[in-house]
Amino acid sequence: MPEPTHSSDQRAIGTVAMRWHDSSLELLDQRLLPTEEHWITLEGASGVAQCIRDMVVRGAPAIGISAAYGVALAARHAGAGEWKAEIRHAISELAASRPTAVNLFWALQIMEKEFHGCQTLDEAITRLAAKAVQIHREDLSANLAMADYALEFMAADTPFSVLTHCNTGALATGGYGTALGVIRRLHEKQLLKQVYADETRPWLQGSRLTAWELARDGIPVTLNADGAAAAILARGEVKWIVVGADRITANGDVANKIGTYSLAVLARYHRVGFMVVAPSSTVDMSLASGKDIPIEEREGTEVRQIKGIPIAPDSVDVFNPVFDVTPASLIDAIVTERGVVHNPDITGMRVLFG
Ligand code: MRU
Repeated sequence: MPEPTHSSDQRAIGTVAMRWHDSSLELLDQRLLPTEEHWITLEGASGVAQCIRDMVVRGAPAIGISAAYGVALAARHAGAGEWKAEIRHAISELAASRPTAVNLFWALQIMEKEFHGCQTLDEAITRLAAKAVQIHREDLSANLAMADYALEFMAADTPFSVLTHCNTGALATGGYGTALGVIRRLHEKQLLKQVYADETRPWLQGSRLTAWELARDGIPVTLNADGAAAAILARGEVKWIVVGADRITANGDVANKIGTYSLAVLARYHRVGFMVVAPSSTVDMSLASGKDIPIEEREGTEVRQIKGIPIAPDSVDVFNPVFDVTPASLIDAIVTERGVVHNPDITGMRVLFG
Protein backbone atom coordinates (compact mmCIF):
# COMPACT_ATOMS: atom_id res chain seq x y z
CA MET A 1 0.00 0.00 0.00
CA PRO A 2 1.77 3.20 -1.11
CA GLU A 3 2.18 6.06 1.34
CA PRO A 4 -0.04 8.78 -0.12
CA THR A 5 1.92 11.73 1.18
CA HIS A 6 5.33 10.46 0.11
CA SER A 7 6.63 12.20 -2.99
CA SER A 8 8.25 9.11 -4.57
CA ASP A 9 4.82 7.45 -4.80
CA GLN A 10 3.22 10.36 -6.56
CA ARG A 11 4.09 9.20 -10.04
CA ALA A 12 2.54 5.79 -9.39
CA ILE A 13 -0.79 7.16 -8.16
CA GLY A 14 -1.04 10.40 -10.14
CA THR A 15 -0.76 13.95 -8.87
CA VAL A 16 -1.60 14.61 -5.22
CA ALA A 17 -3.99 17.22 -3.86
CA MET A 18 -2.56 17.37 -0.34
CA ARG A 19 0.59 16.75 1.68
CA TRP A 20 0.54 16.08 5.40
CA HIS A 21 3.44 17.17 7.62
CA ASP A 22 2.15 16.43 11.16
CA SER A 23 1.91 20.08 12.21
CA SER A 24 0.75 21.47 8.88
CA LEU A 25 -1.26 20.50 5.81
CA GLU A 26 -0.39 21.63 2.31
CA LEU A 27 -3.17 21.89 -0.25
CA LEU A 28 -2.57 22.31 -3.96
CA ASP A 29 -4.62 25.36 -4.94
CA GLN A 30 -6.90 23.78 -7.56
CA ARG A 31 -8.38 27.19 -8.46
CA LEU A 32 -5.11 28.13 -10.15
CA LEU A 33 -4.63 24.99 -12.23
CA PRO A 34 -3.64 24.37 -14.95
CA THR A 35 -1.55 27.54 -15.21
CA GLU A 36 -0.02 27.63 -11.74
CA GLU A 37 0.98 24.94 -9.23
CA HIS A 38 0.76 26.75 -5.93
CA TRP A 39 0.64 25.04 -2.53
CA ILE A 40 -1.12 26.63 0.45
CA THR A 41 0.18 25.75 3.93
CA LEU A 42 -2.39 25.48 6.71
CA GLU A 43 -1.91 25.15 10.44
CA GLY A 44 -5.50 25.27 11.64
CA ALA A 45 -8.97 23.91 10.98
CA SER A 46 -10.43 27.32 10.09
CA GLY A 47 -8.03 27.63 7.16
CA VAL A 48 -8.92 24.15 5.98
CA ALA A 49 -12.65 24.93 6.21
CA GLN A 50 -12.08 28.12 4.21
CA CYS A 51 -10.12 26.19 1.56
CA ILE A 52 -12.96 23.66 1.22
CA ARG A 53 -15.55 26.46 0.93
CA ASP A 54 -13.46 28.35 -1.64
CA MET A 55 -12.70 25.25 -3.77
CA VAL A 56 -8.94 25.24 -3.16
CA VAL A 57 -9.57 21.55 -2.52
CA ARG A 58 -12.66 19.91 -3.95
CA GLY A 59 -14.01 16.50 -4.92
CA ALA A 60 -15.97 14.50 -2.35
CA PRO A 61 -13.23 12.18 -1.00
CA ALA A 62 -10.57 14.92 -0.98
CA ILE A 63 -12.91 17.18 0.99
CA GLY A 64 -13.41 14.42 3.60
CA ILE A 65 -9.68 13.70 3.88
CA SER A 66 -8.78 17.41 4.18
CA ALA A 67 -11.40 17.86 6.89
CA ALA A 68 -9.92 14.92 8.82
CA TYR A 69 -6.50 16.57 8.62
CA GLY A 70 -8.15 19.82 9.72
CA VAL A 71 -9.32 18.14 12.95
CA ALA A 72 -5.81 16.72 13.47
CA LEU A 73 -4.41 20.26 13.06
CA ALA A 74 -6.89 21.60 15.59
CA ALA A 75 -5.52 19.13 18.15
CA ARG A 76 -1.90 19.85 17.25
CA HIS A 77 -2.31 23.60 17.75
CA ALA A 78 -4.82 23.57 20.63
CA GLY A 79 -4.16 25.28 23.95
CA ALA A 80 -3.62 22.91 26.92
CA GLY A 81 -6.64 24.22 28.84
CA GLU A 82 -9.23 24.53 26.08
CA TRP A 83 -8.27 21.68 23.79
CA LYS A 84 -11.58 19.83 23.95
CA ALA A 85 -13.64 22.93 23.13
CA GLU A 86 -11.22 23.87 20.35
CA ILE A 87 -11.47 20.48 18.67
CA ARG A 88 -15.25 20.49 19.00
CA HIS A 89 -15.35 23.96 17.43
CA ALA A 90 -13.07 22.80 14.60
CA ILE A 91 -15.39 19.89 13.81
CA SER A 92 -18.44 22.16 13.58
CA GLU A 93 -16.60 24.74 11.48
CA LEU A 94 -15.46 22.07 9.02
CA ALA A 95 -18.96 20.57 8.89
CA ALA A 96 -20.35 23.93 7.78
CA SER A 97 -17.98 24.27 4.81
CA ARG A 98 -19.95 22.51 2.03
CA PRO A 99 -23.25 20.64 2.29
CA THR A 100 -23.55 17.98 -0.42
CA ALA A 101 -20.58 15.58 -0.36
CA VAL A 102 -21.34 13.19 2.48
CA ASN A 103 -17.67 12.15 2.68
CA LEU A 104 -17.11 15.35 4.68
CA PHE A 105 -19.59 14.34 7.40
CA TRP A 106 -18.46 10.70 7.26
CA ALA A 107 -14.83 11.71 7.91
CA LEU A 108 -15.78 14.16 10.66
CA GLN A 109 -17.86 11.51 12.40
CA ILE A 110 -14.87 9.15 12.45
CA MET A 111 -12.63 11.93 13.79
CA GLU A 112 -15.19 12.87 16.43
CA LYS A 113 -15.41 9.28 17.64
CA GLU A 114 -11.61 9.09 17.87
CA PHE A 115 -11.57 12.40 19.77
CA HIS A 116 -14.11 11.11 22.29
CA GLY A 117 -11.75 8.24 23.11
CA CYS A 118 -8.87 10.61 24.03
CA GLN A 119 -8.10 11.42 27.65
CA THR A 120 -5.28 13.93 27.17
CA LEU A 121 -4.24 16.49 24.56
CA ASP A 122 -1.07 14.51 23.76
CA GLU A 123 -3.17 11.45 23.11
CA ALA A 124 -5.52 13.49 20.89
CA ILE A 125 -2.60 14.90 18.87
CA THR A 126 -1.24 11.43 18.14
CA ARG A 127 -4.49 9.60 17.62
CA LEU A 128 -6.23 12.22 15.47
CA ALA A 129 -3.23 12.56 13.15
CA ALA A 130 -2.99 8.77 12.80
CA LYS A 131 -6.71 8.51 12.09
CA ALA A 132 -6.57 11.19 9.38
CA VAL A 133 -3.64 9.44 7.68
CA GLN A 134 -5.61 6.17 7.86
CA ILE A 135 -8.65 7.81 6.21
CA HIS A 136 -6.34 9.12 3.48
CA ARG A 137 -4.66 5.74 2.89
CA GLU A 138 -7.92 3.83 2.90
CA ASP A 139 -9.37 6.13 0.27
CA LEU A 140 -6.42 5.43 -1.99
CA SER A 141 -6.76 1.69 -1.54
CA ALA A 142 -10.54 1.94 -2.17
CA ASN A 143 -9.79 3.66 -5.47
CA LEU A 144 -7.44 0.88 -6.52
CA ALA A 145 -10.02 -1.77 -5.58
CA MET A 146 -12.82 0.03 -7.45
CA ALA A 147 -10.74 0.10 -10.62
CA ASP A 148 -10.42 -3.70 -10.40
CA TYR A 149 -14.15 -4.18 -9.89
CA ALA A 150 -15.05 -1.78 -12.69
CA LEU A 151 -12.82 -3.49 -15.24
CA GLU A 152 -14.16 -6.88 -14.29
CA PHE A 153 -17.70 -5.54 -14.74
CA MET A 154 -16.93 -3.90 -18.09
CA ALA A 155 -15.45 -7.20 -19.32
CA ALA A 156 -13.86 -5.58 -22.37
CA ASP A 157 -11.33 -7.26 -24.60
CA THR A 158 -10.84 -4.49 -27.16
CA PRO A 159 -10.10 -0.80 -26.59
CA PHE A 160 -13.05 1.58 -26.40
CA SER A 161 -13.69 5.24 -25.58
CA VAL A 162 -15.27 6.71 -22.47
CA LEU A 163 -16.76 10.05 -21.57
CA THR A 164 -16.36 11.59 -18.12
CA HIS A 165 -17.60 14.67 -16.30
CA CYS A 166 -15.98 16.95 -13.72
CA ASN A 167 -12.75 15.82 -12.05
CA THR A 168 -12.65 12.54 -10.17
CA GLY A 169 -8.91 11.95 -10.28
CA ALA A 170 -6.01 12.09 -7.88
CA LEU A 171 -6.90 15.74 -7.27
CA ALA A 172 -10.37 14.83 -6.02
CA THR A 173 -9.39 11.86 -3.86
CA GLY A 174 -6.64 10.33 -1.75
CA GLY A 175 -4.85 9.51 -5.03
CA TYR A 176 -5.50 7.64 -8.30
CA GLY A 177 -9.17 8.59 -8.55
CA THR A 178 -12.66 7.08 -8.66
CA ALA A 179 -14.02 7.35 -12.23
CA LEU A 180 -10.62 8.62 -13.35
CA GLY A 181 -9.03 5.68 -11.51
CA VAL A 182 -11.08 3.36 -13.71
CA ILE A 183 -9.90 5.32 -16.74
CA ARG A 184 -6.27 5.09 -15.56
CA ARG A 185 -6.65 1.33 -15.15
CA LEU A 186 -8.22 0.95 -18.61
CA HIS A 187 -5.21 2.81 -19.99
CA GLU A 188 -2.77 0.61 -18.03
CA LYS A 189 -4.47 -2.48 -19.50
CA GLN A 190 -4.42 -0.98 -23.03
CA LEU A 191 -8.20 -1.04 -23.14
CA LEU A 192 -8.64 2.71 -23.51
CA LYS A 193 -9.03 4.32 -26.90
CA GLN A 194 -9.92 7.88 -25.93
CA VAL A 195 -11.29 9.83 -22.98
CA TYR A 196 -13.75 12.59 -23.76
CA ALA A 197 -13.67 15.09 -20.89
CA ASP A 198 -16.63 17.43 -20.46
CA GLU A 199 -15.25 20.89 -19.63
CA THR A 200 -17.77 21.10 -16.72
CA ARG A 201 -19.12 24.62 -16.47
CA PRO A 202 -18.98 26.77 -14.43
CA TRP A 203 -15.87 25.74 -12.47
CA LEU A 204 -14.27 23.97 -15.43
CA GLN A 205 -13.03 21.01 -13.40
CA GLY A 206 -12.98 18.99 -16.65
CA SER A 207 -10.79 21.34 -18.65
CA ARG A 208 -8.64 22.74 -15.86
CA LEU A 209 -8.14 19.57 -13.81
CA THR A 210 -9.12 16.37 -15.65
CA ALA A 211 -7.47 17.31 -18.94
CA TRP A 212 -4.40 18.43 -16.98
CA GLU A 213 -4.17 15.21 -14.92
CA LEU A 214 -4.68 12.95 -17.92
CA ALA A 215 -2.26 14.83 -20.14
CA ARG A 216 0.41 14.65 -17.41
CA ASP A 217 -0.01 10.88 -17.29
CA GLY A 218 0.03 10.49 -21.08
CA ILE A 219 -3.59 9.28 -21.22
CA PRO A 220 -5.30 10.24 -24.50
CA VAL A 221 -7.85 12.93 -23.73
CA THR A 222 -10.12 15.06 -25.90
CA LEU A 223 -11.72 18.04 -24.23
CA ASN A 224 -15.27 18.95 -25.21
CA ALA A 225 -17.80 21.61 -24.28
CA ASP A 226 -20.53 20.11 -22.09
CA GLY A 227 -23.07 20.65 -24.86
CA ALA A 228 -21.07 18.44 -27.24
CA ALA A 229 -21.71 15.25 -25.25
CA ALA A 230 -24.81 14.22 -27.24
CA ALA A 231 -22.99 14.66 -30.55
CA ILE A 232 -20.08 12.57 -29.26
CA LEU A 233 -22.39 9.75 -28.15
CA ALA A 234 -24.22 9.84 -31.49
CA ARG A 235 -20.93 8.93 -33.20
CA GLY A 236 -21.10 5.53 -31.51
CA GLU A 237 -17.49 5.34 -30.32
CA VAL A 238 -18.14 5.82 -26.59
CA LYS A 239 -19.10 2.64 -24.77
CA TRP A 240 -19.27 3.91 -21.19
CA ILE A 241 -19.90 7.18 -19.40
CA VAL A 242 -17.97 6.96 -16.13
CA VAL A 243 -18.54 9.50 -13.35
CA GLY A 244 -17.99 9.93 -9.62
CA ALA A 245 -20.48 10.86 -6.89
CA ASP A 246 -20.91 13.22 -3.98
CA ARG A 247 -23.70 11.32 -2.24
CA ILE A 248 -25.50 8.07 -3.01
CA THR A 249 -28.77 7.39 -1.21
CA ALA A 250 -30.33 4.13 -0.01
CA ASN A 251 -32.29 3.63 -3.25
CA GLY A 252 -29.20 4.16 -5.46
CA ASP A 253 -29.90 7.78 -6.53
CA VAL A 254 -26.68 9.69 -7.10
CA ALA A 255 -25.81 13.35 -6.51
CA ASN A 256 -22.87 14.41 -8.62
CA LYS A 257 -21.59 17.49 -10.47
CA ILE A 258 -24.27 19.48 -12.25
CA GLY A 259 -24.70 18.04 -15.74
CA THR A 260 -24.37 14.39 -14.68
CA TYR A 261 -28.12 13.81 -14.85
CA SER A 262 -28.27 15.04 -18.48
CA LEU A 263 -25.46 12.64 -19.36
CA ALA A 264 -27.38 9.71 -17.83
CA VAL A 265 -30.44 10.60 -19.93
CA LEU A 266 -28.25 10.81 -23.04
CA ALA A 267 -26.58 7.51 -22.23
CA ARG A 268 -29.91 5.70 -22.00
CA TYR A 269 -31.08 7.18 -25.32
CA HIS A 270 -27.85 6.16 -27.07
CA ARG A 271 -27.60 2.76 -25.31
CA VAL A 272 -24.28 3.67 -23.74
CA GLY A 273 -23.40 2.25 -20.31
CA PHE A 274 -23.59 4.64 -17.35
CA MET A 275 -21.26 3.82 -14.45
CA VAL A 276 -20.87 5.63 -11.12
CA VAL A 277 -17.64 4.97 -9.23
CA ALA A 278 -17.44 6.01 -5.58
CA PRO A 279 -16.09 4.71 -2.28
CA SER A 280 -18.47 3.53 0.43
CA SER A 281 -17.75 6.82 2.25
CA THR A 282 -19.97 8.46 -0.41
CA VAL A 283 -22.94 6.22 0.42
CA ASP A 284 -25.56 7.69 2.75
CA MET A 285 -28.01 4.94 3.70
CA SER A 286 -29.74 7.35 6.11
CA LEU A 287 -31.38 9.15 3.17
CA ALA A 288 -34.15 7.29 1.36
CA SER A 289 -33.75 8.98 -2.02
CA GLY A 290 -32.01 11.75 -3.92
CA LYS A 291 -34.84 14.15 -3.05
CA ASP A 292 -33.42 14.30 0.48
CA ILE A 293 -29.91 15.37 -0.56
CA PRO A 294 -29.05 19.00 0.24
CA ILE A 295 -27.86 20.51 -3.03
CA GLU A 296 -25.36 23.32 -2.73
CA GLU A 297 -26.06 26.50 -4.70
CA ARG A 298 -23.21 28.92 -5.25
CA GLU A 299 -22.91 32.58 -6.19
CA GLY A 300 -24.26 33.82 -9.51
CA THR A 301 -20.91 35.47 -10.29
CA GLU A 302 -19.48 31.98 -10.93
CA VAL A 303 -21.72 31.84 -14.02
CA ARG A 304 -21.75 35.55 -14.94
CA GLN A 305 -17.95 35.81 -15.00
CA ILE A 306 -14.88 33.82 -15.92
CA LYS A 307 -11.80 34.82 -13.90
CA GLY A 308 -13.42 38.16 -13.12
CA ILE A 309 -14.25 38.89 -16.78
CA PRO A 310 -17.98 39.48 -17.34
CA ILE A 311 -19.61 37.08 -19.80
CA ALA A 312 -23.19 38.07 -18.98
CA PRO A 313 -24.98 41.23 -17.89
CA ASP A 314 -24.08 42.03 -14.28
CA SER A 315 -27.69 42.08 -13.15
CA VAL A 316 -28.95 38.89 -14.80
CA ASP A 317 -30.46 36.30 -12.45
CA VAL A 318 -28.48 33.08 -12.26
CA PHE A 319 -29.42 29.57 -11.15
CA ASN A 320 -26.18 27.92 -10.06
CA PRO A 321 -26.76 24.51 -8.46
CA VAL A 322 -23.46 22.73 -7.97
CA PHE A 323 -24.85 19.19 -8.18
CA ASP A 324 -27.82 17.34 -9.64
CA VAL A 325 -29.41 14.00 -8.81
CA THR A 326 -29.36 11.13 -11.27
CA PRO A 327 -32.16 8.65 -10.55
CA ALA A 328 -31.01 5.09 -9.89
CA SER A 329 -33.12 3.87 -12.83
CA LEU A 330 -30.71 5.56 -15.26
CA ILE A 331 -27.60 4.00 -13.72
CA ASP A 332 -26.23 0.66 -14.93
CA ALA A 333 -23.70 0.15 -12.16
CA ILE A 334 -22.49 1.74 -8.95
CA VAL A 335 -18.94 0.55 -8.31
CA THR A 336 -17.56 0.75 -4.77
CA GLU A 337 -14.62 -0.92 -3.01
CA ARG A 338 -17.15 -3.37 -1.53
CA GLY A 339 -18.30 -4.51 -4.96
CA VAL A 340 -20.69 -3.53 -7.74
CA VAL A 341 -24.39 -2.76 -7.43
CA HIS A 342 -25.81 -3.66 -10.84
CA ASN A 343 -29.01 -1.78 -11.84
CA PRO A 344 -29.08 -0.15 -8.40
CA ASP A 345 -32.17 -0.11 -6.23
CA ILE A 346 -32.84 -0.34 -2.51
CA THR A 347 -32.41 -4.13 -2.45
CA GLY A 348 -29.06 -4.10 -4.26
CA MET A 349 -27.80 -1.21 -2.11
CA ARG A 350 -28.77 -3.07 1.09
CA VAL A 351 -26.76 -6.14 0.06
CA LEU A 352 -23.53 -4.11 0.17
CA PHE A 353 -24.38 -1.36 2.64
CA GLY A 354 -26.80 -2.90 5.13
O1 MRU B 1 -17.73 20.93 -6.76
P1 MRU B 1 -16.73 19.83 -6.77
O2 MRU B 1 -15.58 20.07 -7.69
O3 MRU B 1 -16.28 19.46 -5.38
O4 MRU B 1 -17.52 18.58 -7.34
C1 MRU B 1 -16.86 17.37 -7.51
C2 MRU B 1 -17.70 16.31 -8.12
O5 MRU B 1 -18.87 16.50 -8.36
C3 MRU B 1 -17.05 14.99 -8.34
O6 MRU B 1 -17.58 14.38 -9.48
C4 MRU B 1 -17.34 14.09 -7.13
O7 MRU B 1 -17.01 14.76 -5.95
C5 MRU B 1 -16.59 12.84 -7.20
S1 MRU B 1 -14.84 13.10 -6.94
C6 MRU B 1 -14.09 11.60 -6.84
